[in-house]
Amino acid sequence: MQFEVFTLLPEVFPSYLETSILKRARERNLITVNVHNIRDYTHDKHHTTDDTPYGGGGGMVMKPEPVFEAIETVLGIAASPTPPEPASNIPIILLTPQGRVFNQSIAKELSQYKKIALLCGRYEGIDERIRENLVTDQISIGDYVLTGGEIPALIVIDAVARLLPDVLGDPTGAEDDSHAMGLLEYPHYTRPPEFRGNKVPDVLLSGDHAKIDKWRREQALERTFKKRPDMLEKAELTKEDLKFIEKLRTK
Ligand code: ADE
Repeated sequence: MQFEVFTLLPEVFPSYLETSILKRARERNLITVNVHNIRDYTHDKHHTTDDTPYGGGGGMVMKPEPVFEAIETVLGIAASPTPPEPASNIPIILLTPQGRVFNQSIAKELSQYKKIALLCGRYEGIDERIRENLVTDQISIGDYVLTGGEIPALIVIDAVARLLPDVLGDPTGAEDDSHAMGLLEYPHYTRPPEFRGNKVPDVLLSGDHAKIDKWRREQALERTFKKRPDMLEKAELTKEDLKFIEKLRTK
């Protein structure tokens, strides 16, 4: 899968992309991340990418021309004259606190594409014509405001990349994740069996895999019930799950 990132701060990206799982995924050509500097698509002497807002007020606004030119050139498209009709089938996603709030199911949805474009906003805002006539989707990583869309873009790349085939060492690695099955994940333990007087639950040492599966499922249900009861509304639950939750309620 290919990620085309458009930013005014390309230097933010390499350190994270050159580490651990994303580094390996890139080396094995499972993902390609191309980071484009929007400033390279300016034509004036000062390489201007921002300007003051019409109507006054504080802060600067990202100019439309370099953003349109960068994305159109790299994606090889002409922007649609009749939005929201997409100009191509490559999603052009603006990272913004005004977007739909990112979650595991959006990550899954994006992982179905061969290529996505991620546009990182900066300054006080972007010229509205970028939002209206160029981008096809808007994503927020949560209800708070950052200084720019670079960390949100990395978050989207990370969450999407680990869902792609072969990116995680363990082929079932993403299946049990918190949120993957609509529940928070069960607790994990590794050696030693006892640490500072705290023991690993006996069931995990029992070798009885049916029992371990049942315990993990119940732990996931209990955690979700306690910490994120809202998630239980949408989770796929069996009759046994519902019985177990009923027991928790009456505890
Ligand atoms: N840019 C600034 N804040 C953001 C957020 N919460 N999500 C996505 N992009 C952003």
